[in-house]
Amino acid sequence: MNILVTGGAGYIGSHTCVELLGEGFEVVVLDNLCNSSEESLERVEKITGKKLKFYKGDILDTEFLDRVFTENKIDGVIHFAGLKAVGESVKLPLMYYQNNVEGTVKLCLAMQKHGVKNIVFSSSATVYGKNEPPLSEKLPTGDCSNPYGRTKYFIEEILKDIYVSDNEWNIVLLRYFNPIGAHESGLIGEDPNGIPNNLMPYISQVAIGKLPKLNIFGNDYDTPDGTCIRDYIHVVDLAKGHIKAIEKVFEGCGIKTYNLGTGKGYSVMDIVNAFEESTGLKLNYEFAPRRAGDLPSVYSDPSLAEKELDWTAKYSIADMCRDTWNWQSKNPKGYKK
Ligand code: NAD
Ligand code: WQD
Repeated sequence: MNILVTGGAGYIGSHTCVELLGEGFEVVVLDNLCNSSEESLERVEKITGKKLKFYKGDILDTEFLDRVFTENKIDGVIHFAGLKAVGESVKLPLMYYQNNVEGTVKLCLAMQKHGVKNIVFSSSATVYGKNEPPLSEKLPTGDCSNPYGRTKYFIEEILKDIYVSDNEWNIVLLRYFNPIGAHESGLIGEDPNGIPNNLMPYISQVAIGKLPKLNIFGNDYDTPDGTCIRDYIHVVDLAKGHIKAIEKVFEGCGIKTYNLGTGKGYSVMDIVNAFEESTGLKLNYEFAPRRAGDLPSVYSDPSLAEKELDWTAKYSIADMCRDTWNWQSKNPKGYKK
């Protein structure tokens, strides 16, 4: 089977390419490299000892998409390509709607034109909005607090409409919780541009000395230690979930939605403590005001993915911290030389 991986040079995409190649799939990556580097794909080949095919280009470019689908017999698509910075999406909503929503529409038009009707989509727990955890797939969605989240919600709705119009499509919507960690080789990992927005890359850049200290956004939430609770999941577990999802698609699943999370919540302080324990380092941190839009507690009910995909997350928080630090310490500048 030949899988087109959009956004495959990125953080989750590159880890998924490793798993796909390991399982014997052929891989074609399409990425405009706006938030990634081709070096990640060279490392994927190094880890797996296998080759993939790379096209540098944009999902907004219809002619380019046409060329990719003409030159390759694609059986299914895993669609990661998208912009994901919450704060940036508040400042530049049109850029987010164009890149994520219009980009997905163009991708689906190209798929339809070439008779490819199998897709796994990277959605996000953010579509659950303010629902009370544990978050199950049955809950209503769409009450998102920012344009990024709404792009994920709108794309889910668009994909549902495509299925209603033509039930030959097989679609899996995967709602990720908080992916962290890196491949155990330390060859690939998360390499954000500029100052990280997310907790774990921020922690690892403080640990490596690139940033002076971590600001913990709020210690007065209604949680056991006052800091926010999230469902952190090892990126390799997440990547393995995509193998199960694309297999489900090839079984002819219709349209399905699954959470990919561990089902366990950890506070910001738990993560700081776990990182210190697994690395033996002391992190410089201080408490700072709450960050606008943060919810006190977000974690998944992962039971549907266990039941229907035969998938559960295996790695612990200690594993996630160890592998993040292994990647960061071996690559202090990320993929930059
Ligand atoms: P990432 O930025 O590392 O990967 C996204 C990739 O898409 C990048 O390589 C980027 O260059 C590429 N890209 C973006 N716009 C493109 C376009 N128009 N054409 C071609 N390529 C384009 O991010 P990631 O963390 O690997 O996330 C992958 C997907 O998972 C995204 O859709 C993201 O919204 C979603 N997601 C991420 C998280 C998270 O916390 N990392 C959580 C939930 C969902
Ligand atoms: C986690 C916790 C912060 C940074 C975001 C998106 C979500 C999804 C995953 C894509 C929160 C705290 C953080 C820092 C801190 N992405 N924090 N100091 O906000 O749960 O989710 O990424 O779909 O849509 O919103 O993740 O890593 O930013 O924050 O105290 O410097 O760490 O307040 O409690 P979040 P995060």
